Amino acid sequence: MNESTRTTLIDAAAEHGTPLYLYDLNRVADNYRRLFQLIQWPSLGIFYAMKANYNFHLLQALNREGAGIDAVSPAEIQMALKAGFPVESIIYTANNMTESEMREVHETGVLMNIDTLSTLEKYGRLFPGSNVCVRFNPDVKDGENEKIMTGGNLTKFGILLDDADKVGEIASRYGLKVRGLHEHTGSGLQMSESVFKSMENIMAVATPERFPDLEFLDFGGGFKVTVRPDEEPFDYESMGVRITEMFSRFCKGYGRDLALYFEPGKYLVSDAGYFVMEVNTVKNNRDRVICGTDSGFPQLIRPTLYNAYHHVENLTNPEGETMVCDICGNICETGDLFAEQREVSRIREGDLLLVRNAGAYCYSMGGIYNMRPMPAEVVLQDESVLPSRKRMSAGGLVEQILLETERV
Ligand SMILES: Cc1ncc(COP(=O)(O)O)c(C=O)c1O
Repeated sequence: MNESTRTTLIDAAAEHGTPLYLYDLNRVADNYRRLFQLIQWPSLGIFYAMKANYNFHLLQALNREGAGIDAVSPAEIQMALKAGFPVESIIYTANNMTESEMREVHETGVLMNIDTLSTLEKYGRLFPGSNVCVRFNPDVKDGENEKIMTGGNLTKFGILLDDADKVGEIASRYGLKVRGLHEHTGSGLQMSESVFKSMENIMAVATPERFPDLEFLDFGGGFKVTVRPDEEPFDYESMGVRITEMFSRFCKGYGRDLALYFEPGKYLVSDAGYFVMEVNTVKNNRDRVICGTDSGFPQLIRPTLYNAYHHVENLTNPEGETMVCDICGNICETGDLFAEQREVSRIREGDLLLVRNAGAYCYSMGGIYNMRPMPAEVVLQDESVLPSRKRMSAGGLVEQILLETERV
């Protein structure tokens, strides 16, 4: 880590307290712009999967860049609209939608992406003649771990490719205009071959006979990010070239050029996020050293939930000799670990630790288990650290709960 980033993080922790999330908005913009160099298609659309991080200032930064939004709940749509995204730049890809949710979203004018035959039938009955996008299951299994692989018939996502004709029949029965076809294979795809195979599978069902009104194909998110210091970076240059070649060939066969959409979350925001926490205790348990911090898994759950690797660095003793230790939180669960048997430069009580790749699926997956409020969020814009979202106090949290409680 360079000295200036380290100083920024230490100063931000001193000013805003720990635990603390910091998002580098310039980095988010760079990640977004890079995709347009890697995938050169005239009508490339990047729809940010805002489930990765719904921080308001981060959303505004992506809106300034011209990104669209992949939203998965009515609240995400409302938040995206408040951050300035135009209605037509949002695609709604919810799972197991209720009828009232469908009505609510349809009212906003946001394009709905439907992933089940019976839901499509219901949608057609409710809103005949409407535009719609249809999510297929690409029948390819890949992802960072089993829980975030979304392809294959053992998962709940998408309509099976075998049912493509049924989709066409339902659409024509209700006069639905299928404007787009969609797939998402998984998060943290390990092989570019999976991206290509999923694209091929969707393109094979996207015939002009079956779907004459297509305007775009959306191949989801899942672009892998590098999280370990010794990891080989993914070869996005060749992947981008191949994607463009494949899509161009498809469009010739389809009879006209369609727009090419992706909806990355991690790729745009993961490495732009830093999480800083303070070490309160260092305990020697026979041959284990256990370092306890002032945060816990409800505030950054990926290691506990997915066994996900997050690199941890000692911000305040970067040059110390290394030690191996468990880095855990302040929650009453044994699984409350950020890192197990990790080599890190010597940790002392009072040190500040940095957790990297904290921009995606960290704050957004957070909760208040043990009634510990979520950390504050700040953003780094150009050279300035600006407050973004307040940490709630313990008293504030109790007040909020009592406010929502009946008959207090
Ligand atoms: C439908 C859909 N699109 C996009 C994404 C974003 O994935 P990632 O953050 O890995 O790019 C997800 C996340 O799982 C998803 O479910």
